[in-house]
Formats: sequence, C-alpha cells, structure tokens
Amino acid sequence: MLTPEQQRRYRNDGYLVLEGFKPADELAALRERALAIVEAFDPAEGAGIFSTTEQGRSADAWFLGSAGAVRCFFEEEAFDAAGRLRQAKPLSINKIGHALHDLDPVFDRFSRDPRLAALAQDLGLADARLWQSMFIFKQPAIGGEVRWHQDATFLHTEPERMLGFWFALEDATRDNGCLWVQPGGHGGPLRERFVREGDSLRMQPLDATPWPSSDEATALEVPAGTLICFDGLLPHYSAPNRSARSRHAYTLHLADGSARWLPSNWLQRAPDFPVRGFR
Ligand code: FE2
Repeated sequence: MLTPEQQRRYRNDGYLVLEGFKPADELAALRERALAIVEAFDPAEGAGIFSTTEQGRSADAWFLGSAGAVRCFFEEEAFDAAGRLRQAKPLSINKIGHALHDLDPVFDRFSRDPRLAALAQDLGLADARLWQSMFIFKQPAIGGEVRWHQDATFLHTEPERMLGFWFALEDATRDNGCLWVQPGGHGGPLRERFVREGDSLRMQPLDATPWPSSDEATALEVPAGTLICFDGLLPHYSAPNRSARSRHAYTLHLADGSARWLPSNWLQRAPDFPVRGFR
C-alpha cells in the first residue's frame, strides 16, 4: 500500500498525509449519516459536554458509556448562560463517539475499507484492532480548541503503541481549525495519561517535557478526502474554529492485538462486545 519512501517518512515524522484517499461519495455518505444520528439525538438523554481545556473530558457516565455506544457530545460553547442552545442542535454538537465503527453500518463500511487494513499493516500493526471512532464536527464559530496532546494519553497499551487515522471530510484549513503537528515529536515521551479508576477519571502527569512552541508546529491544511495517519505519541492540536465553515473529520484509533489493553483506559469494552479488527 505504501512506498518505502512513505514508510520512511512516517517513521521520521510520526505522521503521513495521503491526499485523495477517500472518494467524495463516501465522505458524503458519512456526513449524511452523522447528521441523521444528531437529528435523532434527544439532548435530554445526556448532556455530555466535551472539553480538553479543563482536566480531561467531562467525567460522566454518558462519556464512559460511549465506549460501547453511539453518543453525541455538545460543544462547550453550545449553551448560553441560561443553559439554552445558542444555535440549532445540528450546529451545537462537538462529536459523536465512540463505537460508530461497530454499531453503524455506514461507519462500519467506511472504517473497514480493505485499503485501511493494508495501511495499518504497513504502519506496523500486524493484527490491528479498531478501538475507537469519532465523528468530529468542529462547528462554525463555536468549534472548540483541542489543546496540545498525544492520543496515547487517552488509549494506553503495553507496549505503548497505537495509531490514529484522521479523515478530512471537508477541507481543513488554518481558518476552520485544521490539525497542527510537531513533525518528529513522536520521538518524545508520553507526557500524561488519562486514567480511569472505577468511574472516576483523572489526568496523571508522567513527564514534564514541555509541549512544542508555536514555531515547532506545522499546520496540516488538507483537502476533503485526505487521510492523515499518525503515531499515538505525536503531539498535535487544533485551534478553535471561528470561521463560518465547519470542519468535519472522522477518526479511528487502532492498536495491535499483541499489545495489552490496560485496565487504566477509560475505554473498556464489555465482554459481550469485544474489540474487533478489520474483518
Ligand atoms: Fe488527538
């Protein structure tokens, strides 16, 4: 699937940009399905507000239960002081997570593309498992910042090795909150770990290495259809979206079957709903 040069670049930089990976019809099908899920979502069910600017994410049952479900989470700035939505529901959702790829046929098809299986293999996962999926809206005007982090903070394996697939469902630019990465930064340590103890969640500092400075960051401005593969240790962030355009993206997080999935992970699958690979 990948040329030796692409594999070398992934090893050096910690990420790889593959433009034109997904055709327009697949992007459209995914976005249409996501909007239907939001349409069917009753906010009274759960008020999961997503935030990484405070400590971790909102530590509530809604979040923990999403490990094996399809649930919507609001943008932090979605509500006014009186607790009313400031814009229509479809423009207020931060993301949908985290088992879309196992529970929804449209997402399943998109995620279990045989080319992705080959790609995971090329990137070092001999026996890939699809642990987590997220549809991220990055809404116009209120799309929240996601501060510098490493995805391995949120998904721990032993050995510490997982990878993310990030699909641009719309053009991602500096204006609407594209990804910023630190090329080569995956060579650094894991700085913190998001730890679950029972039903409580906390951020555990591991290493005091500072986050990259702004001149170490590279903006990944990419057209719709692009796939960005990145190492779980690669520092990255995305700025708030203050533009009038959304920046829809879909992410998948994978680990190898030979790695141990630690009990400290927030995401735990029930015995009757085990994690699966590409088949
Ligand atoms: Fe991330």
